Amino acid sequence: MSFDLRALLSDHIGQARSLHDQYGNAVFAQVLELIGFTHEYTHGEGAYLTTLDGRRVFDGLSGYGVFGMGRNHPVIKDAIRQALDVNLPNLVQMDCVMLSGLLAKELIELAPGDRLQRVFFTNSGTEAAEGAIKFARAATGRPRILFSKGAFHGLSTGSLALNGDESFREGFGDLLPGCERADWNDLEAIERELKSETVAAVVLEPVRGKGVFYPKDDAVYPEIQRLCRATGTLFVADEIQCGLGRTGEWWACDHWNLAPDILLTAKALSGGIIPIGAILYSEDVYRKVFSRLDRCVVHSSTFGQNTTAMVAGLASLRVLKEENLIERSAAQGEKLLSGLRELQNRHEFIHEVRGKGLMIGVEFGSPRSLTLKPAWALLHAAENGLFSQAIVVQLFKNHNLLTQVAGHHQEVVKMLPPFIISDDEITMILNAFDAVLGECRRFPGPLWSFGKQLAGAAAKQHLFARTAGRS
Ligand SMILES: Cc1ncc(COP(=O)(O)O)c(C=O)c1O
Repeated sequence: MSFDLRALLSDHIGQARSLHDQYGNAVFAQVLELIGFTHEYTHGEGAYLTTLDGRRVFDGLSGYGVFGMGRNHPVIKDAIRQALDVNLPNLVQMDCVMLSGLLAKELIELAPGDRLQRVFFTNSGTEAAEGAIKFARAATGRPRILFSKGAFHGLSTGSLALNGDESFREGFGDLLPGCERADWNDLEAIERELKSETVAAVVLEPVRGKGVFYPKDDAVYPEIQRLCRATGTLFVADEIQCGLGRTGEWWACDHWNLAPDILLTAKALSGGIIPIGAILYSEDVYRKVFSRLDRCVVHSSTFGQNTTAMVAGLASLRVLKEENLIERSAAQGEKLLSGLRELQNRHEFIHEVRGKGLMIGVEFGSPRSLTLKPAWALLHAAENGLFSQAIVVQLFKNHNLLTQVAGHHQEVVKMLPPFIISDDEITMILNAFDAVLGECRRFPGPLWSFGKQLAGAAAKQHLFARTAGRS
């Protein structure tokens, strides 16, 4: 008996859409069709994807941030093959796994600040967030968690309780009590809440995925951390998206010299090939969660220390270090950001370019010129976010550049390109934005007619914003 993957793929070529229509999420497939993202992908390597009809697409999203080192990195692939070839004694369960110990050690050596000493492995980002909620409650004996408006920490019910966007929560009933939205810029309100000494943790994404936001004032995060320390509240950094080099430092926390009590990582940790996640946490929290012999598995997961994932994790850290990808993310990110800021001088629709490293958001707003204002207003009135969706579609259709709208009802186009991005590819992205934004000056023109088409569909259902805003 053998399993022939190549034959399976070639026997079913062109059938992805119909399979999803029948057995998967057909609504998602429908939305993809509306925005023209109907391609079936056949190959992924480095910074590129290939479609069935032979297009070579630059991957400006890295699978929502998992492929920081590029798709199917040869070193990680080889490490996984080695893991399979030596028949590792995976998931014995009644043992201490050497490889998870080694990966934990490496993560702690790289961790920001001086508090993180223990690691708990998970299978995804949302599971890491779930664990952090439990650990924070167990360690403090307090019920409440503060999270940011606009936050995204995953979509299982605990992490969903920390979601700053109502539309993700809608229809799922009452979520975990005690989870409350906060505005990081309103330090007085945060101080008031923390002084009540009822808050277990402040959970924040140092660079927020939805919209690519961080406080304009660099003093905000250190002050929140200080308030946490003063009130016995845990400071939790969700670096699932912004960690491991994405922002040009190992950790986004490093931009503000933060020393969290708990740090969450996932996405890029296995080079994107195998699901993985990890909670890095302090000795103090560890002792309070796993406090007695009969609580030794009080939090655990069957696949958590899956050795294939651990091998991929160790290989990924090696690649990030040896290929100097953190430095590269910083340098290439700076070039892309400054190129986009130059475009801002020429294109009045760009209101702000923000980001750190290769986590970048381009925010659009109403133009100054009287001829274009009404067109913008029309699209905007139909649904906030449609203009940026039209930009994303044109970048893809005409320039083979994959990007996304950064969140529900946001006029922000977001990019998370792989750290291996070259100077030529940066130039290609800048030229693509330049051309698409140049097109916007033509009214009526293709971008606006497409926008109108989207507006028509959006009037029926608010579909685009929902799909677009996933990461
Ligand atoms: C900051 C952040 N936290 C948590 C998650 C959830 O991770 P996962 O999709 O692996 O559950 C994400 C996913 O996009 C994220 O960006």
